[in-house]
Amino acid sequence: MDVASVAVIGAGAAGAVTASALKAENYFKRIRVFERRETAGGVWIQDVESNKSRPFEPGKLPPDIDRPLQIPSKLPQALPHNQQERWEETPIYKSLTTNVPHIAMCFSDSIFPYGPFVPHYVARQYIENYFSLHQTDSFLELNTTVEDLSWVPSSSHKNGGNWKLTLRKGDVARRQDMWWEEHFDAVILANGHYSVPYVPRVPGLESYTKTYPGRVSHSKFYRSPEKYYNKRIIVVGNSASGHDVAADLVSVAKKPIYWSIRSKTRWDGPEAPEGMEWKPTIEEFRAEDGSVLFSDGSILEDIDAVIYCTGYKSSFPFWNTAANGHPLWDYKTDRMIGNYQHTFLRSSPTIGIVGLPRTLTFRSFEYQAIALARLWSNRNKFPLPSIAEQEKWEMERIRQSQENKTKFHNIPWDTGETHEYLNYLYSFAGLSTLAGDGRVPPPLTREMVWAIENIRKYPEPGKDKKPRANVKEDEYRGWVVVKP
Ligand SMILES: Cc1cc2nc3c(=O)[nH]c(=O)nc-3n(C[C@H](O)[C@H](O)[C@H](O)COP(=O)(O)OP(=O)(O)OC[C@H]3O[C@@H](n4cnc5c(N)ncnc54)[C@H](O)[C@@H]3O)c2cc1C
Ligand SMILES: NC(=O)c1ccc[n+]([C@@H]2O[C@H](COP(=O)([O-])OP(=O)(O)OC[C@H]3O[C@@H](n4cnc5c(N)ncnc54)[C@H](OP(=O)(O)O)[C@@H]3O)[C@@H](O)[C@H]2O)c1
Repeated sequence: MDVASVAVIGAGAAGAVTASALKAENYFKRIRVFERRETAGGVWIQDVESNKSRPFEPGKLPPDIDRPLQIPSKLPQALPHNQQERWEETPIYKSLTTNVPHIAMCFSDSIFPYGPFVPHYVARQYIENYFSLHQTDSFLELNTTVEDLSWVPSSSHKNGGNWKLTLRKGDVARRQDMWWEEHFDAVILANGHYSVPYVPRVPGLESYTKTYPGRVSHSKFYRSPEKYYNKRIIVVGNSASGHDVAADLVSVAKKPIYWSIRSKTRWDGPEAPEGMEWKPTIEEFRAEDGSVLFSDGSILEDIDAVIYCTGYKSSFPFWNTAANGHPLWDYKTDRMIGNYQHTFLRSSPTIGIVGLPRTLTFRSFEYQAIALARLWSNRNKFPLPSIAEQEKWEMERIRQSQENKTKFHNIPWDTGETHEYLNYLYSFAGLSTLAGDGRVPPPLTREMVWAIENIRKYPEPGKDKKPRANVKEDEYRGWVVVKP
């Protein structure tokens, strides 16, 4: 492989560490990071509450609600500013703090200023600063969306072709978009996975939202509890967003908050927390009288707000399936098609992915970024397995996910799978050169492992050990241990 130029899509945590890993190789001639927002920071940028109306389409997946834009026939070209919904807004609310202890969440060469859990703006500042820390800020092209990514075959090109990026730089003041193209030998997808909100299809929900505009919303647009003062609320979903939103609202909303839960998580004890009442899944919304029917036959009337905390769907509207030979994502099963180790793409060795598996986030992105930088500088310690072996890995993981009813890209900690995954990337990358070119994959230290396993933002009923009354502080190594 002969890679001189690399484009990175996205300047969140994944893009930040990718840019530094690429630069550290001291090998690539051109590195560019395209970011559609006005600054680096990704999901941690905080947006103010807006009254903008947004499509609310239950059950719809990204191919329906995050469609590619029409590419202008002539480039470069200036055109009127795009008005189509692109979901760039972030889901940050006022009270959000991180939920992974800082020594395990941050990149290995720069710790968060304090911890263990920091307010959302600290994470944003950290990512922004990370670009200047590594002097990769000059690689950034902000306000610039990658609208199309196409493979352009060429027999004269050393790799048999290269990647064409069609770019759109938004100029809101002039209400104008500048469109142009750039070509690269390799591309890293670091575009994040939490921007397109998901709302399940429920009978009656569509007509309910038309009859009662604004009553049903998604946690992506939740900012603070004030507007819910004394309102009767249903929160749907009990993962991190559901827990945070319900806890945020309990002091202002009319009690109880009704909390619709499909399956229990490790944070849910035997009873709902004070001020909340658990409900099962919603069976039907009734526009005629505004009531909501649950699967146990119970009905709630006079509801003021329903907040869906039902997560997000990954979206790759820029992936040009016709030019690239196959679709990139299976939107029904939430899986990248033809991936190896959540990082490499079987069909295209010059495409890399950083930020994909749901695991340790920032720190795991670091291992992915170093592995890819090493692969393209031809310094990786051992080669990728054969195409047949890579395919076998994918098929086996699909089989296991179906058998265990788990998600392909979720990597659990407790089973040791996270260690296995990081160890593969760690070993694949190997050391830097003797002269110091290339980042060294970091250790996953005992201290980090201890912090991950013992320092929790949310208590886990029945699992957390109660600190003994006479415990010495240094037994907890100075950490704040959340009491159940
Ligand atoms: C509400 C919330 C809270 C979270 N809290 C935690 C936490 O406490 N701890 C933790 O470890 N993880 C947390 N996460 C997970 C979080 O997503 C990761 O920590 C991490 O920040 C993801 O980084 P990323 O770079 O992969 O994605 P993002 O931060 O989403 O960055 C992707 C970037 O790509 C840009 N982009 C997308 N498409 C394009 C395009 N076509 N062209 C140009 N730019 C594009 C986006 O604008 C964005 O800036 C949280 C997630 C959410 C949604
Ligand atoms: N720092 C923080 O404290 C913080 C706060 C918020 C979010 N986050 C992060 O943000 C990311 C997204 O979290 P999230 O909570 O928004 O989404 P999520 O983790 O994907 O959870 C989605 C929730 O919606 C439920 N759900 C999905 N489809 C449903 C359906 N058809 N009917 C009923 N329920 C349904 C799920 O239930 P099942 O379990 O039954 O599938 C789950 O409870 C995660 O990485 C999370 O860690 C972090």
